[in-house]
Amino acid sequence: MPRILNKSLRRRGLCCKMQGMSKLDDLFAFLSIPSVSAVAEHAGDVERCADFLVNKLSGLGFDAKKHLTDIHPIVVAHSPKVEGKPTILIYGHYDVMPVDPLNEWLSDPFTPTVRDGRVYARGASDDKGEIMAHILGVEQVIKEDGALPLNVIFLLEGEEERGSTSLFEFIQKPEVKQELACDVIVVSDTGMAAPDIPSFSYGLKGLCCFELEVSAPCMDLHSGVFGGSVANPITTLCEMIATTHDADNHITVEGFYDGVSDIEQWEKDSWKRVPGMSDAELAELTGVPCLRTETGYTGAECVYARPTFELNGISGGYEGEGSKTVIPTKALAKMSCRLVPGQDPEDILDKVEAHFRKVCPPSVRMKFTRQHGGEAYICDPHSTWGKAAQKALENTFGNPPVLVREGGSIPIIAEISKQLGKDALFLGMDLPDARIHSPNENMRVEIFEKGIAMAANMLRLMANAQ
Ligand code: BES
Ligand code: MN
Ligand code: MN
Repeated sequence: MPRILNKSLRRRGLCCKMQGMSKLDDLFAFLSIPSVSAVAEHAGDVERCADFLVNKLSGLGFDAKKHLTDIHPIVVAHSPKVEGKPTILIYGHYDVMPVDPLNEWLSDPFTPTVRDGRVYARGASDDKGEIMAHILGVEQVIKEDGALPLNVIFLLEGEEERGSTSLFEFIQKPEVKQELACDVIVVSDTGMAAPDIPSFSYGLKGLCCFELEVSAPCMDLHSGVFGGSVANPITTLCEMIATTHDADNHITVEGFYDGVSDIEQWEKDSWKRVPGMSDAELAELTGVPCLRTETGYTGAECVYARPTFELNGISGGYEGEGSKTVIPTKALAKMSCRLVPGQDPEDILDKVEAHFRKVCPPSVRMKFTRQHGGEAYICDPHSTWGKAAQKALENTFGNPPVLVREGGSIPIIAEISKQLGKDALFLGMDLPDARIHSPNENMRVEIFEKGIAMAANMLRLMANAQ
């Protein structure tokens, strides 16, 4: 749209209304594509979603390309070159988590629906809403100012929710590193404290996932005929798992805390003021009788900055109706550790495996399987770029952001930051009640609109931040 026409429309108050409508249209079109990366039958939808992004960004004058990989495409888009101005790289993931249990959704997960001021759909807050807010922030600046005041690269992947395998390979290539050279990395795939209190995060947890299978008899046995004579795999698995923590909820795997630094005093002070993160509020929000933290740390400190060892699922034996007196042939536990800076996922996997081998009794067999992971990430929140980002958050949301570290992980970020040699800044839009990964995932329309304004403001501030 020519600038003059645009300006006169804006003066008459029409433009905002029109833009407001088309903004939600863009978001709805994006959310309607079921880009579930974990499920093979959705591979075509994931690719269609990449095409949608290439189209949208091409329409804004970007040089946008879809790079095919062994799994799902990576979208890279460059704005027209502005000489002498910084380059920011905006990362996001356009894949989403599976939707089950489907019957708990109040509206279809891929038919975006507005109720009570929120858009309900899978991906609304993780991470399509945020991606679209940045794209529309770019669009708004182009419309209002005629062009972008700096260089923008979008790096949008389709495998974050399954471990970013292809992007880990892609980002190693010298020609890719050259193409993605930038001054700073911007990510909004993280949390926001409250609708009027933005969060500026300067860290993410790392992650490593693994499984432990314990087996003993070669078939399910009658628990009377053989009971007492052989090890029960479920009991043994539970005993082995119970050795991983002590009474203070400290992890007892040898060397687990090697390289872990203490939380700094300014961080402890700052985290006391994060809304919703006091011990009482955390207990209330999660519905637990009271918190159980590592002794000596608050809930917020554990979430943001202490490594954890979690059981994610456990199975074995008879789980059907009534009772069945068997000694099962095997038992399985799915586990993961959230890591902090100083811990290496491969090294932690070695240590956890060694721990289980040490405590495994001779009466059972064990199989330890390594799965995906990634390193933790941390940077200085007070850099020039960090300050510009914080200003954009404050300008838009009316309050200065709280400075936090995320309990969640985006395993590829540490790798992107390492390969490109630049900081990643997290300007999250994901509220505690957004239900990411759960049924009825949503984003408040107000947050989406402010997200667009924040993205636009950030581009203008960063253009002059060096
Ligand atoms: N966007 C989330 C991570 C997140 C959410 C960070 C909220 C901070 C606040 C991301 O999509 C995610 O779900 N990551 C997974 C890891 C992935 C390998 C499955 C996670 O953290 O469990
Ligand atoms: Mn995400
Ligand atoms: Mn996610």
